[in-house]
Amino acid sequence: MATALCPGSFDPVTNGHLDIIERTARHFDDVIVAVSRNPQKAKSLFTLEERQAMLDKVTDHLGNVRIELFTGLLVDFAQDLGAQAIVKGLRAVSDFDYELQMAQMNQRLTGIDTFFISTSPQYSFLSSSLVREVARFGGDVTSMVPKTVGDRLAQLFDSSGSGKEA
Ligand code: PNS
Repeated sequence: MATALCPGSFDPVTNGHLDIIERTARHFDDVIVAVSRNPQKAKSLFTLEERQAMLDKVTDHLGNVRIELFTGLLVDFAQDLGAQAIVKGLRAVSDFDYELQMAQMNQRLTGIDTFFISTSPQYSFLSSSLVREVARFGGDVTSMVPKTVGDRLAQLFDSSGSGKEA
């Protein structure tokens, strides 16, 4: 049984993330979407539990995918779960430096390998942070996130484009 981890902060999950999760699920027996706070990112919009609930809903059609929260090191979590691989999406060259550094650090720590999947071109501009910003100021993100996420964002922000939470 080959188990892969798709780690990330998923604040919130976008169509780009979902594309990577779906494609990973075709190559591995089990896929665990591992949600954590990114210590490099100061502010979050959704709680970890909210992110997990949204991910649960949007991956409901994938029988070999489950969502877990973790704290601490990703490699320790991978060992606890018996996962053999980490899978991440690469959008552009700008992702590469940091992703390579993390992959090499994780490889050094426990020997776990990271596999990169190229993001589908229609999602290469997409990031959770830009989705949060656009939604906050009243922009339309409905084509960029699953419906349940779009609904949550619409609930959260007022429609005035003031940037204030409703
Ligand atoms: O979606 P993100 O924000 O790029 O995800 C980054 C994440 C959460 C996968 C990364 O910050 C992480 O692995 N955090 C856990 C702590 C850890 O293992 N840090 C060492 C990384 S080499």
